[in-house]
Amino acid sequence: MQRFSGKTVLVTGGAGSIGWAAAQRFSQEGARLVLADLNAERAGEMAAKLDNAIGVGSDVASDGGAQYAVEAAMAFGGLDVVFNNAGISGPVKPIHELDPQEWDHVIRTNLRSQFVVLRAAARAMIAEGKGGAIVNMGSSMGGWDVLSASPGYLASKHAVTGLTRSAALDLAGYGIRVNAICPGVIETSLGVPAADKQAHIESVRRFADRIPLRRIGQPEDVAAAVAFLASEEAQHITGVDWLIDGGQTLQSWANAPATHTFPWHLKGKPGER
Ligand SMILES: NC(=O)c1ccc[n+]([C@@H]2O[C@H](COP(=O)([O-])OP(=O)(O)OC[C@H]3O[C@@H](n4cnc5c(N)ncnc54)[C@H](O)[C@@H]3O)[C@@H](O)[C@H]2O)c1
Repeated sequence: MQRFSGKTVLVTGGAGSIGWAAAQRFSQEGARLVLADLNAERAGEMAAKLDNAIGVGSDVASDGGAQYAVEAAMAFGGLDVVFNNAGISGPVKPIHELDPQEWDHVIRTNLRSQFVVLRAAARAMIAEGKGGAIVNMGSSMGGWDVLSASPGYLASKHAVTGLTRSAALDLAGYGIRVNAICPGVIETSLGVPAADKQAHIESVRRFADRIPLRRIGQPEDVAAAVAFLASEEAQHITGVDWLIDGGQTLQSWANAPATHTFPWHLKGKPGER
């Protein structure tokens, strides 16, 4: 498939695991790529591995950084698609221990970034007058699942749904579609944080045991859905948020496997912590 021939795609967080998988997918399908990431060096290195791609260092949660990333794409060939993917998990702390500055940081990175990139991209696309597609990064934590000790992360991902729907309605008249994807656990250092290789293997096995399709999601699974939503095949789809979770969120407490180990980050019984 060459669904993105002649199109320019901006991927924020493009030097990270899911961003990179999406960049490769878009590239295989003929796109020009702009990878925008806080880590400028890595964005450049990753872009160098693709045909027709550049990496730019940018804090996409800042007004200037978002604008810079969009202008880089415009200068590189126009702006047809944005994958609004940059994000962090934030500190693993219960709400009564989370500092307001830590809250601000995760909300800024995961939510403000999406707003300022959307705003800058929408303005550029409206000016170009040929429509476009924007895919926001949500999470199964945005309304389907609940993770303890991550209040900022959950709040930011819930908000992605509202932002996506609102933007989809505002931009539909310009031929700009806005959708969100909501992955469950994906095998990246963000999704499966682990101290070493053995701990990683163990975490992956435990997660896979709790997912009905019995495997942990891969960045390529997310990339495939992003490419579809960004393509003309999805021309009548806007304002949706799509789970990509192997059935993870179909399991309530009542039918969860007996090996249920949540919350995985807490050690000891209540009162012993
Ligand atoms: N891995 C999972 O299980 C999972 C599940 C659901 C949602 N997500 C979401 O997917 C996205 C990507 O996650 P990942 O697992 O690939 O993590 P990752 O850490 O590999 O990638 C995130 C990338 O975003 C970049 N970034 C962070 N802040 C930025 C900023 N202000 N400006 C520009 N770039 C910035 C980082 O440098 C990094 O390259 C995140 O939004 C995350 O919340 C991940």
